[in-house]
Amino acid sequence: MPAAGPGGPTRLTRPEVEALDTKKFVIVPAAGTRVLVLRDAEQRLRAFDARCTHEGCTVQYVPAEGVVWCACHNARFDLEGRVIAGPPPRPLPRYMAREEADGTILVTADHA
Ligand code: FES
Repeated sequence: MPAAGPGGPTRLTRPEVEALDTKKFVIVPAAGTRVLVLRDAEQRLRAFDARCTHEGCTVQYVPAEGVVWCACHNARFDLEGRVIAGPPPRPLPRYMAREEADGTILVTADHA
């Protein structure tokens, strides 16, 4: 197993993995912040800083639209983290999320 640490990978717990399976996204504490982990329509994992770059509200994934949405001022980000609507001044920082052969999901601070 890789070493865990402040900058090391964070392993999603079973309830977090179940939430990801059910809702297609979950927000987890990782990389010293809160990270949105989502599974896109092609079943790929993507991870972003969960704090909107506008005023820091928590974003969420909207699977039906394939966008990340911030409810505070109705902002939308594409699945690269780029702003496609609303006031945020910058893209969402991206993180790495990967799935091991045994189904373990790891999030790391490395920017994608
Ligand atoms: Fe997200 Fe304003 S805080 S759009």
